[in-house]
Amino acid sequence: MSAAAVLVLAAGKGTRMKSKTIKVLHDVCGQPILSWVMNTAYALTPDAVGVVVGHESETVAAYLEKEFPKAQHMLQEEQNGTGHAVSVGLAGLEGLSDDSIVVILSGDAPLIRSETLKTLLEKCRKHSMAMVAMPISTQQHYGRVIRDTAGLAEKIIEYKDADASVRNLSEGNAGIYACYAGFLKKALSTLKPTNVQGELYLTDIVAIAHTANGCGVVSAPIEEVTGVNTRMDLAAVTSEAQRRINEKHMQNGVTLINPHSTYIECNVEVGEDSTIYPNVHLRGDTSVGCGTTIDTGVVIQNSKIGNDSWIKAHSVISEASVANGCQVGPMAHLRPLSVMEDGSKVGNFVEIKKTTIKEGAKANHLAYLGDALIGKRANIGAGTITCNYDGFRKHKTVVEEGAFIGSDTQLVAPVTVGRDAYVGSGTTVVKNVPRGALAISRVRQVNKDGWADRFRSAQEKRGKSDK
Ligand code: UD1
Ligand code: MG
Repeated sequence: MSAAAVLVLAAGKGTRMKSKTIKVLHDVCGQPILSWVMNTAYALTPDAVGVVVGHESETVAAYLEKEFPKAQHMLQEEQNGTGHAVSVGLAGLEGLSDDSIVVILSGDAPLIRSETLKTLLEKCRKHSMAMVAMPISTQQHYGRVIRDTAGLAEKIIEYKDADASVRNLSEGNAGIYACYAGFLKKALSTLKPTNVQGELYLTDIVAIAHTANGCGVVSAPIEEVTGVNTRMDLAAVTSEAQRRINEKHMQNGVTLINPHSTYIECNVEVGEDSTIYPNVHLRGDTSVGCGTTIDTGVVIQNSKIGNDSWIKAHSVISEASVANGCQVGPMAHLRPLSVMEDGSKVGNFVEIKKTTIKEGAKANHLAYLGDALIGKRANIGAGTITCNYDGFRKHKTVVEEGAFIGSDTQLVAPVTVGRDAYVGSGTTVVKNVPRGALAISRVRQVNKDGWADRFRSAQEKRGKSDK
C-alpha cells in the first residue's frame, strides 16, 4: 500500500545539539540522519517526497540535490512550528487530491521502519488520520498522547504545556503521522499559536481528527522512533542502528565475536563465514569477502577485502584493496591506492601507499613502500624504505618479479630492480639493477683482532668509566 506523498520536516535548527552542523546532517553509522529518513520514505514508493527546509536551508538542499535528486524541498523561512512546516510543505506538493494520504515524518527520527509506516497507512484508511506512539518514561520531553475509551487518540499535549498529571502519562507522540490530504489542509487552516511556545503545533490536528473520523494509533518501541534532539539521543540512535546492522550481518552468516563492540557502517558488505573480532571498525564503502578474519582493533575505510584473508590486530586500511588469501599486519598501515594481490603479505609496522604488491610478494617487517610496484613473489626485507619524494615530486620504484631486497635497503626513486635480482642488506639503490644482478653499496667490513680488549684496558687505566 503506497502513500501519495511523504513530507519530511527538517527546518528546525536543533539548538540542543550545540553544533555547527545542522541536526539532520549529523551522522548515524555512516549516513546522515536525514538520509535514513529519506530511504524509508522512498521505501513506501510514494508519488512525491517533499522536505521542509529552513535553518541552513542551502546546505540541506545541496545535500538533497546530490543524494536524493528526485526529492522536492520547500523553504520554511521562519520556524513557526511543526503545523506551519506542514502547511509550507503541502503548498509545494502539487496535484494532491483530498482523498490521497500524506505521510509526515520527522527529519530527526532516523530509525522508523517502513513496516511500521505500512501499518500506519492501513490505520489511516479507517480514520481521518493515524499517528505513531511509543512508551516513554516520565522524564522524557515528548508530547503526551491522551486516548479515548475506544483506544483512538483524543489529543496530544506537549510536554512544555503539560501539568504534572499529564507529564506522568506513559505514552508519547513519535511525531510521525499519516493523514488524508483534504482533512489535513482543513485542520491546518484552523491552528492557533495558543501555547507556551507560541507556535503552530501540528499535534493540535489530533483533537480535530477526533471530532471528525478519528485518529488511529500505531505503537512502536521507543528505539524505533527516538528523535534526535541532543547528543545523548544521537548516541542512543547510533547504538540501535548499530544493533540492527550487526544483526543483519549475523543473519547473513558472519560471526561477530562481540557485536556490542563492533562498529560497522550501513553500506558495508561482509561475506559468509567471515569472523570479526571485538573493537573492529568497518566504515564507508567497504566490502569484505567470505571466510576472512578481521582481528581486534582493525579500522577499515572505503576498502575492498577479498576471501580467506587475515587482517591481523590493529591494522589500519583506507581506500585500498586486499585480494584473496592475503595477510596484513599486525599493526600494518595500508594507505590510499594500495593494492595487494592474491596471496601477498604485509607484516608488522609496514606502511604502504599507492603501491601494488603483486601475487605472492611479501613485505613482512618494518618497511615503507610508497609509489611502488612490487612484482610477483618478490621479497622485501625488514627495514626497506622507498625514498619516493624529493621534496617536490613523488617518484616510482619498481621491484620486478622474484627480486630479493635485503634488509635495511633504501630504494631511491625513480629506480627499478630487475627480475630475480638481489640487493644486499644495507644498500642504498640509486641506479637501476639489471635482471639477475646483485646490487651492493655498503662499505666493506674490517675486523681488527683483539681491539676490544685493548680498548677496555686503556679506558680502565684512565679511570674513564661512567658506570
Ligand atoms: C515534536 C512534537 C512532539 C513529539 C516529538 C517527537 C510538535 C509540536 N511536537 O516535538 O509531540 O513528541 O516531535 O520527536 O510537533 N520542524 C520544522 N519546522 C518548525 C519546527 C520543527 O521543520 O517550525 C521540524 C524539526 O526540524 C524536526 C521536526 O520538525 O525535524 C520536529 O521538531 P522538533 O522541534 O524536534 O519538535 P519536538 O520538540 O521534538
Ligand atoms: Mg524533535
